[in-house]
Amino acid sequence: DKGEFRHYMLKEIYEQPKVIAACLEGRISEDRVLTSSFGADSAFLKDVENIHIVACGTSYHAGMVAKYWIEELANIPCSVEVASEYRYRKVAVPKKSLFLTLSQSGETADTLAAMRMAKGLGYLTTLAICNVPSSTLVRESDLTLLTRAGTEIGVASTKAFTTQLTALLITSIAIAAEKGELSDDKHTALVHALRSLPSYVDAAIKQDSAIKLVSEHFANKHNALFLGRGPMFPIALEGALKLKEISYIHAEAYPAGELKHGPLALVDETMPIITVAPNNQMLDKLKSNLQEVRARGGELFVFGAKETGFAQAEGIHYNEIPWVEEVLEPIVHTIPLQLLSYHVAVVKGTDVDQPRNLAKSVTVE
Ligand code: F6R
Repeated sequence: DKGEFRHYMLKEIYEQPKVIAACLEGRISEDRVLTSSFGADSAFLKDVENIHIVACGTSYHAGMVAKYWIEELANIPCSVEVASEYRYRKVAVPKKSLFLTLSQSGETADTLAAMRMAKGLGYLTTLAICNVPSSTLVRESDLTLLTRAGTEIGVASTKAFTTQLTALLITSIAIAAEKGELSDDKHTALVHALRSLPSYVDAAIKQDSAIKLVSEHFANKHNALFLGRGPMFPIALEGALKLKEISYIHAEAYPAGELKHGPLALVDETMPIITVAPNNQMLDKLKSNLQEVRARGGELFVFGAKETGFAQAEGIHYNEIPWVEEVLEPIVHTIPLQLLSYHVAVVKGTDVDQPRNLAKSVTVE
């Protein structure tokens, strides 16, 4: 039931504060991530020395964000690969590696095949972060962390993605703590940040009507370029995927530092450039990348906290989003991009919940 909402996608975007809270429930105490979240077999958290993440589509983008968290917090190497590639190559597995799959449905054919293959490759264990408790992936994986997003009906994944990110941040913190890479103070600060996450996401959703106005600029666009740096690069990829899926506008995402290496040639007055600005040491670098784009006439759409110093200006459409702790930015900053693609699709009159050519669950190769 869509209730007061016009589409399931919008309903599911608005459910995110609630389902993220559900994902955190019982997995954090006042100041610690609880290892019991992983069941009785949580020894892998301490033993793991390397991580392979395998997934498809939006779930793959969640894995790409996790790589930044895992290497930053837990100081162990992490690689991320799409399941359709992983399953058809010879994979070298370092000692004490964790195999981690991400899947909303738990029925994606390539992800299941990758997990079955991994079981014969000597991993420490296989962990599935999944939304559907009764799925094949959950049944066949050694360990599971459920995302608790509830049924997702819109083909374009929204709440499944942000709850995957929440579960991945819990996992990254748990590994970092168990491996002795996290001071007590840092651990407490991270858990306090996690506790605020549902209210931050709620505040980001409050920008809905402002983002709806911005979406009108995309009615006649045929292309869009998303830029991000650091963990905001996978968020740019996810923003581009959402836009192409439901509005059929051709969209690409690049790490902003790659602009000069090719994509800058695409930029002219007809090219909208969308970026989500982080509030960290990468901000100045992003700003200089954006100047290069402005100098070629590209129209900028910037989402960022007011602390980033962006403002409305000639050729710059600025939308404020709330300030959040840096570690949470990938989750909270996803919201404006979901809302943007939703409203652009509505403006274009496409079938938001059931885009052409796509199925909710890809159970064949
Ligand atoms: C995009 C989308 C797909 C899925 C992909 C994997 O909005 O929904 O890209 O993310 O098909 O599906 P799951 O997560 O069910 O394995």
